[in-house]
Order: sequence, then C-alpha cells, then structure tokens
Amino acid sequence: MSGTDRAAVVAGVGAWVPPAVVTNEALAERLDTSDEWIRSRTGIRRRHVIAPGGATSDLAVEAGRRALESAGADDADVVVVATSTPDRPCPATAPEVASRLGLTGVAAFDVAAVCTGFVYALGVAGGMIASGFARTALVIGADTFSTILDPLDRTTRAIFGDGAGAVFLRAGRPTEPGALMGLRLGSDGTRSELIEVKAGGSRQRSTGLPARDRDTYFRMEGRPVFAHAVRRMATSVRATAAEVGWAPADIHRVVLHQANARILAAVAEQIDVPAECFPSNIDRVGNTVAASVPLVLADACVSGELSPGQRIVLGGFGGGLTWGSVALVWPDVTAIRSDAAPVSPSPTDY
Ligand code: COA
Repeated sequence: MSGTDRAAVVAGVGAWVPPAVVTNEALAERLDTSDEWIRSRTGIRRRHVIAPGGATSDLAVEAGRRALESAGADDADVVVVATSTPDRPCPATAPEVASRLGLTGVAAFDVAAVCTGFVYALGVAGGMIASGFARTALVIGADTFSTILDPLDRTTRAIFGDGAGAVFLRAGRPTEPGALMGLRLGSDGTRSELIEVKAGGSRQRSTGLPARDRDTYFRMEGRPVFAHAVRRMATSVRATAAEVGWAPADIHRVVLHQANARILAAVAEQIDVPAECFPSNIDRVGNTVAASVPLVLADACVSGELSPGQRIVLGGFGGGLTWGSVALVWPDVTAIRSDAAPVSPSPTDY
C-alpha cells in the first residue's frame, strides 16, 4: 500500500467481549486441568464466552459500532468481517452486520484466515482504499470459538475465548500517522491439518445424520503450531519492519495475535525487541482468533500502552497456515472499549 499518494489510514478503534466470564478455576471443575497448568503454559486466567443463542454477528455489531463512534463516522463504503465462525456457513456474516449498523447497500463480505483473519482483512480493505475503490472501510475481526470447541478437549477449551474488535479506515496520505505500510501476507497449505474443523465443508459434507466422531469440532496440534507461530510471526514482523526502514530499536510496540504468552516472549527474543514492547491481554480474554489483534490494539490504546507517534507493527498467525504483518505510526485516536458488567455463566452454558 505504499508507493502511491493514497493510503488507508486508521481513524477509529473499537472492541467488545460478551459479559459471561469463564475462569480457569471454573474450567478445572469440569475438565482434567488446573489454573496452575493453564496460567504457566499459556498466560491465560479467564476468557469470555457468548450466551446460548448468541452468534458472531452480535459481537461484530458491537465492535463495529464502537469503531464507527471512535472515528466519528456514521457510514463506511465497505464492511469486512474476518471470522472463521460465521453465523451460518452460507451466506457471509458481513452483510447482516452492515445492515444492523445501518449500512444496507454497501459492499460487505467475510474474510477467513482464522487467527490471521484480521490482518488479511486489513490488507484487503486497505487495498480497496489505496486503489480508489473505496474512501472508507470498517474492518471487524469477530469469532465465537466457544461454539465449535469439543466440550471434552481440555487443550482447546483452556485457550480460546469469544470477542470482537474493529478498526475504521479512511483514505489519506502514505506519510500521515495511521497509514498502513509494509503489508506482508503469507500461507502454507501443506500444513492445513494442524488447525482444522474436518466436517461441515465440501470435503466432508453434512449428511443429515448425527455428526461422525468429533469432526464438527475444532482441533489443533498445539506443539507444532507453537513452533510455526513463533517462526512465522518473527520472520513476518522483521520483514515488514525492514521494508519500512525500521531497525528493531526503532519499533516502539509489536501488537501480535494473542495465542500464548510464551509465543509472545519467544517472538520478542527472536526479533530482538524487548518483551515489554508487546502489549498483551491474553490473561483476560485468551485466544479470540480473528478478534485478537484489534482487541489487544483497543486494550493497549485504552491503557496508554499505545500512544500517538509510536512506530508499531501488527502481526498474526493462524490456521491455513496463514500469517501476516503491517506497520504504522500510531495515530491520535481514542479507542472505544466498553463492556457490559461481567457475569458467571451457568456450567451448562459453556
Ligand atoms: N490442562 C492440563 N494438561 C494439559 C492441558 C490442560 N489444559 N492441555 C494439554 N495438557 C497436557 C497434554 O495432554 C500433555 O499431556 P501428556 O504429556 O500426558 O500427553 C501435556 O499437557 C503437554 O501437552 P503439549 O500439547 O505438549 O503442551 P504445550 O506445552 O505445547 O501447551 C498449548 C499446549 C496448546 C498451550 C501450546 O502448544 C500452544 O499454545 N500452541 C500454540 C497455539 C497457537 O499458537 N495457536 C495459534 C493459532 S490459532
């Protein structure tokens, strides 16, 4: 997106998580796990889950509304929802989200790149703005993995949570704060089996019969995914920084997908940027998939960890495998991050 006189510029940030909070202790009452194991292996203390009957669009609308408010905008030319848990396999979730935000008639579509989904969506929407197709775009990352986890799988249940985050983009100059620069996206489909839901797509169709085994649930091979996540995010962030002319010492903040606190520490070491420069909210929300990057962006903005003028790199890694990163100088925006009061769900509701 650099090299022209027009760029996509971040002009608003918003995020939302559902009120139901599941602590490690609550999980340990139902699964063979412990608060100590989850905290020491992942950094996670709790996660939020959607209420029964809720869906991804509900979260996306809340986050989208907050990003519009943050930008002082009441419309957008394009609405992109990054998600791997759409309300239904068909149609996309974005048109419904757009309409519920009062944006019926605009271009609206989903992007599926699992935990890298938001970075991919930023790339697509940013490119539409840079090309002159659109003046503004609302880019939302939203996922409800609690709806596709195996209730008996302690590994995935400990990690994932539900949430949504969003960024509002407008057309601007490549040299102004907030302009997206040095975008890099990548994939390796030879390792798609490491993170997958086997059933429900064209490869393993719905038969109308009860689902075979646990094929409708999400599954992940944690250990190899960990290694790929560290290597791919470190390489991608380093390359993006180099492309925009930043040495490691020039980077003020690295805002990464929140998959595991140990992954953040390992990437910090590999790219030679202090771990304190990596904002994190994983203790409070877990891995929220496509919502993760905009959610930690919003939290870091509200906490003051991000301030105008800082040089930051955003990065993600996820199923596919997919990865990506983008650089920007943080603009003067006020993130809107207001949640409902937390509640404890009934054990049968998660
Ligand atoms: N509570 C207690 N024990 C658990 C557990 C839990 N919640 N989850 C796994 N274990 C057990 C395993 O069953 C295994 O037991 P075993 O040795 O008896 O077989 C042991 O802990 C070690 O399992 P392993 O998978 O090797 O643990 P790990 O240290 O790699 O941590 C993850 C597991 C999932 C936390 C870690 O691999 C991870 O974060 N992976 C990357 C996830 C990611 O990046 N996702 C991004 C894309 S979405």
